[in-house]
Amino acid sequence: MNPSRRPLIAGNWKMFNGGRAGVELAEACVAFARDLPSVDVVVAPPYTALAAVADTIDGSPVALAAQNIHPKDNGAYTGEVSGPMLEECGCTWVIVGHSERRQYFAESDAFVAEKASAALANDLLPIICVGETLQQREAGETLRVVKQQVDAFLDVIAQTPKAVAIAYEPIWAIGTGKTAGPTEAEEVHAAIRSWLEKKSPELANRTRILYGGSVKAENAAALLSCPNVDGALVGGASLDAGSFGAIANAARAARGK
Ligand code: 13P
Repeated sequence: MNPSRRPLIAGNWKMFNGGRAGVELAEACVAFARDLPSVDVVVAPPYTALAAVADTIDGSPVALAAQNIHPKDNGAYTGEVSGPMLEECGCTWVIVGHSERRQYFAESDAFVAEKASAALANDLLPIICVGETLQQREAGETLRVVKQQVDAFLDVIAQTPKAVAIAYEPIWAIGTGKTAGPTEAEEVHAAIRSWLEKKSPELANRTRILYGGSVKAENAAALLSCPNVDGALVGGASLDAGSFGAIANAARAARGK
């Protein structure tokens, strides 16, 4: 295994478990993560649970992510939360460019790149999401669309020595129970790796490429066994510590050799 590409399993809780339930879920994640030292486990609760979850996971192997970040450090941006605030709250990661934000909040490729840059400037590692719609896949446009999304932030991640993550999340696979099969996922992951490689072999070597979209305990082993799949960004199944732990365990078995 490439040591700079340890398996990374991140749970995107989306708009669930924003209070007490989040603390209980985080406690259960700490319990399984202690038995999986070869896997990086990250949880991304809603903003309202970040501080409480930070306390819960303090001193444990579980790391904290936010689900979003504003590019500016502060200012009159009602409802937004900035990088310095997330860093002070105990976050070490932040998800940027999730398809739900691109779709419902009209986030452009350029805005996503700005967010990735703000994250890095504030000691947060971005998990930058890309992925195509069903229509684009059926039109044979998957690689063109994903390349355009990656090209928008390529300079940002090439200019830092930090090890960011990219999450390939085909939009048609999110919350639908449909997953890209291992062959479909590997094709896109290998393409992303080749674009990074073209920019710099060192960048390709240190960047983890996660798969997301209906990852469950049952399909995790097959996906995580693909050579260019370095982990998973898990939605629904991350809300159940048993399922999320089983996915992390599959990552250990598939990638931790
Ligand atoms: P599901 O695992 O619920 O399909 O969600 C995937 C996702 O959007 C993770 O960011």
